[in-house]
Amino acid sequence: MNALIAVLPGDGIGVEVTAQSVRALTKIASRFGHTFRFEQALIGGAAIDASGQPLPAETLALCQRADAILLGAVGGPKWSQPDATVRPEQGLLGLRKALGLFANLRPVAPHPAVLHASPIKAELLQGVDIMVVRELTGGIYFGDKQRSATEATDVCRYTLVEIERVVRLAANLARKRRGKLTSVDKANVLETSRLWRSAVDRILPLEFPGLTFEHMLVDSAAMHLIRKPRDFDVIVTENMFGDILTDEASMLAGSLGLLPSASLGETARGGLYEPIHGSAPDIAGRGTANPFAAILSAALMLRYSFHLETEALALEKAVSDSIVAGVLPADLSAPGMPAASTQAAGDAVIAALG
Ligand code: IPM
Ligand code: MN
Repeated sequence: MNALIAVLPGDGIGVEVTAQSVRALTKIASRFGHTFRFEQALIGGAAIDASGQPLPAETLALCQRADAILLGAVGGPKWSQPDATVRPEQGLLGLRKALGLFANLRPVAPHPAVLHASPIKAELLQGVDIMVVRELTGGIYFGDKQRSATEATDVCRYTLVEIERVVRLAANLARKRRGKLTSVDKANVLETSRLWRSAVDRILPLEFPGLTFEHMLVDSAAMHLIRKPRDFDVIVTENMFGDILTDEASMLAGSLGLLPSASLGETARGGLYEPIHGSAPDIAGRGTANPFAAILSAALMLRYSFHLETEALALEKAVSDSIVAGVLPADLSAPGMPAASTQAAGDAVIAALG
């Protein structure tokens, strides 16, 4: 396979972890006989510094040409003053919207070798395997925003079409997994949630008769995720609930540094792959960040954009082998134990790839 991969390292540790996923993909290419061409571009704060814009036209053009996009992270205190008019996050949100990446897949499966890294009891974590599907281009993130000296509004808006396409995508994933879909909303309060719920109630019995589905209020889901995480298979939810619940769910895996994501549109081509963690300005530039989430995001690229399942599994196994071998960056290593650097963690993955 011959593919063009757009590489957008972004800000902070995004730069460090993305370098490791590029190395891992290069190794996969040589081992399995593929040609991956990497082209780099600016996004977020780095792009604001260079051009005044968080999503420069040439970055968007590259992403539109590319077969898939690898992204690090955006943001940082330098660009986050409350009255800033351009923000790094606008680059990422603009890219998701411009490319129509409406479904954000965030798999959460605690690794048996690092259950100790989670603040949650190990017995609750065994066998947890959740796929969160977060709607990514609608809701309060993208509704009208107003601000005066004394008042501010963020409109939460969803169209039926936006709801239906993400629910169908999640239901299709559930069909290939354990056959259960949990739709998370706040239908006791929000009109958008009531529209969401009615769409699920109509689509699931009609189009996915074999699936078990349930509705759960988001506050209750936040609690259940900690109390009984094994109960979940696929979760589908709107943009902001999905953002919040997946940071929470990352604690099941032990660290934000382990959670990859895939953002998909109507077609496999042009998917965007990024770790769910942010730019972590507090540890940026030290070479200590955990690259596993970024590398696992590259594995999702192999799976969802390139349909290279064998290669995806090989990369996921290489990360798993590294963890089992005790190559643990600071967010995972036991207190008092030496932590692996970003580079050492990348080296271990490459070595495990043989
Ligand atoms: C994420 C991030 C982004 C989001 C930010 C950086 C805009 O938190 O991908 O989860 O809120 O979607
Ligand atoms: Mn987030």
